[in-house]
Amino acid sequence: MLAREVAGALGCELGSAVIKRFPDGEKYVKVDSKVEGEDVVVVQSTSRPQDENLIELFLMLDALSDQWADVTAVLPYYGYGRQDKSFAAGEAVAARTIAKHIEVSARRFITINPHKKYILDYFKIPSVSVDASSLIGEYFRERDLNQPVVVAPDAGARDMAQRVADSLGCECANCEKKRLGPGKVITSAENISLDGNDVLIVDDIIDSGGTIVESAKALRSRGAGNIYVACVHPVFTGAASERISRIADELVATNTIQTEYSKISVAGLIADAVKRG
Ligand code: R5P
Repeated sequence: MLAREVAGALGCELGSAVIKRFPDGEKYVKVDSKVEGEDVVVVQSTSRPQDENLIELFLMLDALSDQWADVTAVLPYYGYGRQDKSFAAGEAVAARTIAKHIEVSARRFITINPHKKYILDYFKIPSVSVDASSLIGEYFRERDLNQPVVVAPDAGARDMAQRVADSLGCECANCEKKRLGPGKVITSAENISLDGNDVLIVDDIIDSGGTIVESAKALRSRGAGNIYVACVHPVFTGAASERISRIADELVATNTIQTEYSKISVAGLIADAVKRG
């Protein structure tokens, strides 16, 4: 559990809470540890089931603020973060709504690689995003990759891929992606030429897996050797991980969302961000 790891890295106690449901299905949260006047860090997953996890978070923050705790809210993965603006008239800005509910009770906010960094501007409390690319670089530095090239599956992931490439000391490139709809993309890698090079495809989020599968196919056709895939947030909707595992040699993610592929822990990054205050 990530909260336990963060507590270990901070050298502090792991608090406890009772979380249950009323018979009508509504959630009940009671903080069990005595936290009056303490610095408290709440680490909450807001991946599936998102709505339920968010209500739990809001109730937990409310309970803590009632005890005058100085609360830092940590969302390793920012659920609802991709509806980060109004794309069409009348749409709710979900990322902003989440921010408003958090800042009512928390004094500080930390997240990891939000899809768009500007969502932090929705917070009136101090808020920071932490970058996990160096951890992905470190993980693959231990591997014996053959003339590696780090590839972003689209232009949006290029900066992150570049940071991973810098940490590995290798070349970086990006595919061109056109989104046709949710889970449907077409990708080309015409500008990338490979000669058996191992390829590490890096993205912030893997959701349906379509982006990665299409870029892996394009890179194979350009002469890729082994294909490794890494992401920060393994949302993995439906058969995403199975689809990727059929085309890639290895799939690795961080534990901002706990999955069987979460081999890279962000606990140290979170602890360092908490210490920086
Ligand atoms: C898009 O800009 C993101 O960086 C990811 O590439 C995207 O969310 C992945 O979605 P999917 O796995 O459904 O293709």
